[in-house]
Amino acid sequence: MLRLPPAKIAVVLGSGLGNFADALSHTQVLPYSKISDFPVSTVEGHTGQFVHGFVGKTPVLLMQGRVHRYEGYTAQQVISPIRMLKTWGIEKLILTNAAGGINHQFEVGDLMLITDHLNLTGDNPLVGPNDPRLGTRFPDMSDAYSRRLRDLAKSMQPDLREGVYAGMLGPCYETPAEIRMLQILGADAVGMSTVFETIAATHLSIETMGISCICNKAAGFSGVKLTHEEVTAAGKAASKKFTDLLIRLIPELL
Ligand code: HPA
Repeated sequence: MLRLPPAKIAVVLGSGLGNFADALSHTQVLPYSKISDFPVSTVEGHTGQFVHGFVGKTPVLLMQGRVHRYEGYTAQQVISPIRMLKTWGIEKLILTNAAGGINHQFEVGDLMLITDHLNLTGDNPLVGPNDPRLGTRFPDMSDAYSRRLRDLAKSMQPDLREGVYAGMLGPCYETPAEIRMLQILGADAVGMSTVFETIAATHLSIETMGISCICNKAAGFSGVKLTHEEVTAAGKAASKKFTDLLIRLIPELL
């Protein structure tokens, strides 16, 4: 198989955030299609390749595109790239996504550090026999979104939002009643990715952080219909803010 140079930090780029790759130097690309059995996204806005490059002197591996449970992939298939990253030597993982804003203080274009999640997908990628070489049967999830990494990001950009991410199965956006339910449950943002990857990374003892780009107000909060085009366009509009944060953060992560 084709090989990329080593890196200890990986970033999974969500909808509309893929152009962070343009901020790296000395890039090399490995399309997912060149890796046998690698799950390839069917969703618009998800390119489908690894990009290796440098932020200053720090090597980093980007995933431009991920797959989702709603595409019909199993939870285990969704997290197979995370297990591959572990075998490649990744120690720190930044998961990014586009999300709907539930917290009324959030504006479209805000970045939210995920402090914790609600896995409401009804599934879990660790279901099935546990391989103890990967991790423990019953992983502790109380620091799944590393407080150390969140504190570091906050110290660099104090206006970052923070909150709880509700992970839904999708693919339909939520109903207004579901959003009111999520609000009562303590969610600040909602999306259809990330929670499985965080569970898998935590199981593998990879230190993880999650960043949501608030790309729309959640269903029922704005009076306009939600579309994937609106979500990816808002992601692209926030990409400078996002790039600025990652450029400062990545060299300090290890
Ligand atoms: N709901 C679920 N997933 C999303 C949303 C949303 O409002 N926005 C972006 N991804």
